[in-house]
Amino acid sequence: MGRVFSGLQPTGELHIGNYIGALKQFTDQSGHYYCVVDLHSLTAEPDPATLHDRTLDLAALLVALGLGRKSCVFIQSQVSAHAEMTWLLACEARTGELNRMTQFKSKGRNRPQSSVGLFLYPVLMAADILLYDIEEVPVGDDQRQHLELIRDVAMRLNSRYGDVVSVPKAVIPKLGGRVFSLTDPTQKMSKSDPDPMSKVLLTDSDQLIVKKIKAAVTDSGREVSHDPKAKPGISNLLEMAAVLSGESVASWVERYRASGYGAFKQAVADQVVAVVGPLRDEALRIRRDEAELERILASGRERATEQAERRLVAVKRAIGLHLPGGHP
Ligand code: TYM
Repeated sequence: MGRVFSGLQPTGELHIGNYIGALKQFTDQSGHYYCVVDLHSLTAEPDPATLHDRTLDLAALLVALGLGRKSCVFIQSQVSAHAEMTWLLACEARTGELNRMTQFKSKGRNRPQSSVGLFLYPVLMAADILLYDIEEVPVGDDQRQHLELIRDVAMRLNSRYGDVVSVPKAVIPKLGGRVFSLTDPTQKMSKSDPDPMSKVLLTDSDQLIVKKIKAAVTDSGREVSHDPKAKPGISNLLEMAAVLSGESVASWVERYRASGYGAFKQAVADQVVAVVGPLRDEALRIRRDEAELERILASGRERATEQAERRLVAVKRAIGLHLPGGHP
């Protein structure tokens, strides 16, 4: 992968869908930026103490994945260029295109009490990405539309002012780009779903993971086969197991076709535990070592700031803002 940026919100607790759709694709390389997007999560109006805690929980999780050594792990609100760039891009984005965003339609449109932040959410995302000369953005399928908008805004900026930003593209996994709810496999697994049984959290104990997978809604019949339309529940579990084990869906089907749902679900649960268990324990260990975590975050912030400021100045110059000292 070339230069990479991705972000996760410290709202709600992260689940296996966030892992499969996004986190699993992250690698620790220089020129890769992984951001705790705390400014985005303000659109969900979180309680201040909870926001503060979850920001560190999420940072610890990223470090537990092995990120933040060569790559930058940092907190969005600590790099002020993101907020400044948002204004510059807000003057390029069109209300028509922001109104078309399905996320805004479902969360905010036609509700006078919804925040302006919710409307500007994709513009802040554009600022995140365009500050870092990014080629690839690993995300789940639900971010596809936002990434298309960001490409349009980047191309508009470039055609008005000369090539000032890189035009990024989304990298969405073919398998696992959309992980579905365990209680309703026609709906996306979601942080905001109030039913705890609908999702495996990355903080769940081994026992709880097994309980949730065993209780997952499955389909009529007994045969384990992959058919997302007719068998959405079983297909969702098959895809999760395949991605997490690195094996194909076909090999899981072959192994469990005739064994019945019970044995299959136990095997899926074991596979989920094998991935989530060590990650959860490592994240907890790092979270307790606050000095080490703050050191990694400070280094991430420093390197991110340097890059972001450079691009921000280039964009300001291109659009005709007067820079300090009168530099052309
Ligand atoms: P967030 O925190 O809501 O989601 C984090 C990542 O998890 C993916 N995801 C899923 N993937 C598969 N199946 C699911 N059920 C599922 N649910 C969530 C999301 O697609 C996302 O990749 N808007 C971003 C945060 C962001 C960002 C950015 C991402 C802010 N700035 C710049 C990339 C680049 C979001 O949805 O976060």
